[in-house]
Amino acid sequence: VNHLLGIKYITKEDIQLIFETADHFKEVINRPIKKVPSLRDITIANLFFENSTRTRLSFELAEKRLSADVINFSAASSSVKKGETLIDTVNNILSMKVDMVVMRHPNPGAGVFLSKHINSSIINAGDGAHEHPTQALLDCFSIREKLGKVAGKKVVIVGDILHSRVALSNIFALQKLGAKVKVCGPKTLIPKYIEKLGVEVEGNLIKALEWCDVANMLRVQNERMDISYFPTTREYAQQFGLTKKILDSLNKEIVVMHPGPINRGVEITSDVADSKQAIILDQVQNGVAIRMAVIYLLASKIKHHED
Ligand code: CP
Repeated sequence: VNHLLGIKYITKEDIQLIFETADHFKEVINRPIKKVPSLRDITIANLFFENSTRTRLSFELAEKRLSADVINFSAASSSVKKGETLIDTVNNILSMKVDMVVMRHPNPGAGVFLSKHINSSIINAGDGAHEHPTQALLDCFSIREKLGKVAGKKVVIVGDILHSRVALSNIFALQKLGAKVKVCGPKTLIPKYIEKLGVEVEGNLIKALEWCDVANMLRVQNERMDISYFPTTREYAQQFGLTKKILDSLNKEIVVMHPGPINRGVEITSDVADSKQAIILDQVQNGVAIRMAVIYLLASKIKHHED
């Protein structure tokens, strides 16, 4: 059975194939008729045990654009609330002839754990502070679209690295594609293992921005935070918030990214988020083509296996 559980588990060649497939689907979804019949015989369950706007809707749209049948599950309104386990929940859903599972879960490793207990392809839509592989793929695809390539580009990931699955998946994807990566943020929000990944830490935002071609401004994840870890929101915004004044003071035009949702006025001000240098909504748009590509490639393996 094939899965996308994390960028850690896939190769540069896998990523390149996903990008080439996404190039095709991006062209498809810009046509007047945005659908292809490729997955008429596939049923996909979107299982969300944690809140989401972009990822959930983007997966659902990607599945519908591929003509798959789609069922949506939200833990908050399910029998999980009556004590049903993750494995029981998913096996009950799979018994309804479901072929593929997309899952977001608050626990790191939930997808890897589930993959050992069920007989279905799983796509990780974010597992705690571990990985968010499709976010990293759409982020790198957006850099490739904006700057022509990812290899050799300098990318700084700014902010709450400690709680961020987006940071870890981006680090793996950017390194596999040959980009140079630094992280920047308060010491309390930088995990100890980061330098073991070959990533340099820069504590000064201006120096980090002067170095980079691309700045990926992460959300401060208050919901995962012990308050004692954290500089105050005001201190954070003063030291690590990206403002228009800072952006305009740089001697070059950098690309600004954010995975969303944005804390406007904390990690990024509104005039930066809404500026021409920000590609935040391009990232969201590219998410549909990337997820179509991932689902299509995994479904092709299921069909090949059945043949
Ligand atoms: N970027 C991202 O994962 O957003 P959601 O939490 O809204 O899905």
